[in-house]
Amino acid sequence: MTDTASPPAPSGEVYGDHVFSHLRPDEAERLEALAQALDENTFRRLGRLPLRADWHCLEIGAGLGTTARWLAARCSRGRVVATDIDTRLFPDPGSRNGWEAREHDVTRDEFPAGSFDLIHARWVFSHLRSRDADLTRVARWLKPGGWLVVEDLAQFPLGSSPNPLYRKVSLAMCAAVQARIGTDCTWARDLPRVLGAAGLTAVGTEASASSVGPTPMGRFWQLSAEQLRSDLQETFGITTTELERFLVEVRSGGLTDLCLGTVAAWGQAPPQLVAR
Ligand SMILES: C[S@@+](CC[C@H](N)C(=O)[O-])C[C@H]1O[C@@H](n2cnc3c(N)ncnc32)[C@H](O)[C@@H]1O
Repeated sequence: MTDTASPPAPSGEVYGDHVFSHLRPDEAERLEALAQALDENTFRRLGRLPLRADWHCLEIGAGLGTTARWLAARCSRGRVVATDIDTRLFPDPGSRNGWEAREHDVTRDEFPAGSFDLIHARWVFSHLRSRDADLTRVARWLKPGGWLVVEDLAQFPLGSSPNPLYRKVSLAMCAAVQARIGTDCTWARDLPRVLGAAGLTAVGTEASASSVGPTPMGRFWQLSAEQLRSDLQETFGITTTELERFLVEVRSGGLTDLCLGTVAAWGQAPPQLVAR
């Protein structure tokens, strides 16, 4: 049960049309804070794979490209392609240590079947309305024996927060992104089943969460709330006083609480991939 009213039906708006647009002046800082909060766990998870220098890797919805940079340093004789619907926040080609940038909408654009040894995406598919079907298509881009690693945002640490104001505004943020762009903040919990249904084997999962407060995740959550300000106030009944208190608390040393979690799941393409 949440502290907020049911959201209105999803509009036709998608990620980046308005909220989270890469043209917003604070979006690079928001994505930088997210990368700082999540990169360590991502690199630890990817580092457990039998990575080889000649692997071909795909990073979907790469944001600022921090994971593509990490992969390119390890797959120096292979190929790393980083995609995004908007590549404007990627670093200049000269500072990319060899990874390739591709403007590519994962809900529409294709790669040939059997292209990659590793495909990774972080905090992307939850934002897509066609997420299950997209993930099934993406699995076909794996070579036989290739790995798909998906990490996505998970709401469960927020609903169990003992802080009523933090819980109320944070859950309203999840409802606001669902109403606006169709994000499902609960979907990632089901990722192992989705990967299995896409025909992958050796499926595994784990979760992590980091704290708000004077941390990168606190900065990310504050900047996200500021982008959603009018929806929170006009549609989800958050008062100006509540929002201002939340924005201060979420960055202060006085609030030690978990933010959105990350559910990671991985699976391997069998010799002949057949989606169930
Ligand atoms: C929350 S950000 C995460 C960025 C990065 N993966 C990270 O974790 O640091 C979501 C990213 O997915 C991209 N994105 C959203 N919809 C997409 C789509 N349909 N195809 C490709 N990328 C998409 C956004 O532009 C944005 O860069």
